[in-house]
Amino acid sequence: MVFDAMPEQIVILDFGSQYTQVIARRIRECSVYSTILRYDTPAKEIAALNPSGIILSGGPSSVYADDAPLPDKQIFKLGVPILGVCYGVQLFAHFLGGKVEKGQKREYGKGALSVLDAACPLFAGLPASLQVWNSHGDKLTRQPKGFSVVAKTENSDYAVIEDRSRRFIGLQFHPEVAHTPHGREIIANFVHGVCGCGRTWTMRNYLEQAVEQIRAQVGKEHVILGLSGGVDSSVAAALLHRAIGDQLTCIFVNNGLLRSHEAEVVQEVFGRNFKIKLEYEDASELFLSRLKGVTDPERKRKIIGRSFIEVFESATRRVGKAKFLAQGTLYPDVIESVPIAGNPAALIKSHHNVGGLPKRMRFKLVEPLRCLFKDEVRALGLELGLPHEIVHRQPFPGPGLAVRCLGELTPRKLDIVRAADSIVVEEMKAAGLYYKTWQSFAVLLPVKSVGVMGDERTYDETICIRAVESQDGMTADWVRLPYDLLEKLATRIVNEVKGVNRCVFDITSKPPGTIEWE
Ligand code: XMP
Repeated sequence: MVFDAMPEQIVILDFGSQYTQVIARRIRECSVYSTILRYDTPAKEIAALNPSGIILSGGPSSVYADDAPLPDKQIFKLGVPILGVCYGVQLFAHFLGGKVEKGQKREYGKGALSVLDAACPLFAGLPASLQVWNSHGDKLTRQPKGFSVVAKTENSDYAVIEDRSRRFIGLQFHPEVAHTPHGREIIANFVHGVCGCGRTWTMRNYLEQAVEQIRAQVGKEHVILGLSGGVDSSVAAALLHRAIGDQLTCIFVNNGLLRSHEAEVVQEVFGRNFKIKLEYEDASELFLSRLKGVTDPERKRKIIGRSFIEVFESATRRVGKAKFLAQGTLYPDVIESVPIAGNPAALIKSHHNVGGLPKRMRFKLVEPLRCLFKDEVRALGLELGLPHEIVHRQPFPGPGLAVRCLGELTPRKLDIVRAADSIVVEEMKAAGLYYKTWQSFAVLLPVKSVGVMGDERTYDETICIRAVESQDGMTADWVRLPYDLLEKLATRIVNEVKGVNRCVFDITSKPPGTIEWE
């Protein structure tokens, strides 16, 4: 998204902290737009954005390392407030005449902060002693010129330093993480109190701007969008439809690997309620015939990916005349990760959804969610009138039930996993846990075992229940579902799903496990 008028914004320079995106989200929660840029972005480029403030993120490096990531030093002359977090404090010291040394003790984890100078605008309205979260080895031993001490911890006399005239503030702790309970207020004090930002970034404002922007980009041309029923493509569809109405055609491919009622729900919501032009491609037979006899997970994925492109391409030819292809790309897919050793975000790159559609499909791209985080996409979806069930649904993988049905895919096995999955969704919703959980689903394992039902011996399939909590799918922890719920799930699945006689619960986190079983 390129804005016509530059929004009021805070620029975050990324020095490789695993929390950089969290800082960006916290600022947006204050209804202020934020942009993440590489640490070495030239000061002129930053100035061109006319930021109200700059935040220097933390990072795993030491300023004195040979390959330390350093910013353009002209940023300190822009006359813009700067908040240095953790490594950001070292940068103040490095460029503005202070001193950093290896700390005797690595300060890691909870710390108690004592605010000595209550006049510092960052702590307005906050108590004089606060719990904070530290994660640093090096520490400041001499303040940079013009700075004075605002707060200290047991381990650091310079936990917070400030140059009030230049509006530079350094924090040795991380205000963005949940373990700093007043962190949100500290960030709000920076963006509103120090930088003077209003509350201009709301999804209502964004919606108006985005509609104008899409109209300007697309003109009278036609746009095609692959609708999966997931949150991102659904919100993109509703937004584009608001902007250009019948110039949008959505293509929904049924690959035979969908959940129960998925195809009906999508047709109901988008076709009948929203009156979006929808091409429904039922290609389930094609997919399943090509997957016959295939057991290797990678081959399954490849077949599904290739078949999808084929079906989608032929549908676009049928629709004809479209110049644009819309995609639900989000901001985290766009941010360039900083290649610094020790930055986990740089190493873990999503292996999913890479590649996309082949280049021969010469479409121009429309990506109206390109500057939004997931929670903002959800808020935008509600603003557009999408139902709660679509906006807050759990993520569902592109290859669908293929990654939840191990071994060869057959219609019978898919029916089993589909039926078990419906029970999991139903019971999670009834327990009030579905929308609080990142993902919860059933997996059909390639294991048969002995059981007894009534007076009869059985030799049937095994369903595994998986429930995980996660922020972004990169790491995950298994959810401690209540025993009563587990009992209900096992009873219902074994009683109601024909062909299943055993239910197990997966208690593996990621890493070392993955969320899907493949
Ligand atoms: P894993 O299994 O790698 O999954 O821990 C992480 C997240 O990605 C989803 N996932 C996929 N999403 N296409 C997708 O669109 C895929 O091929 C795919 N494989 C896994 C998974 O559901 C989880 O949210």
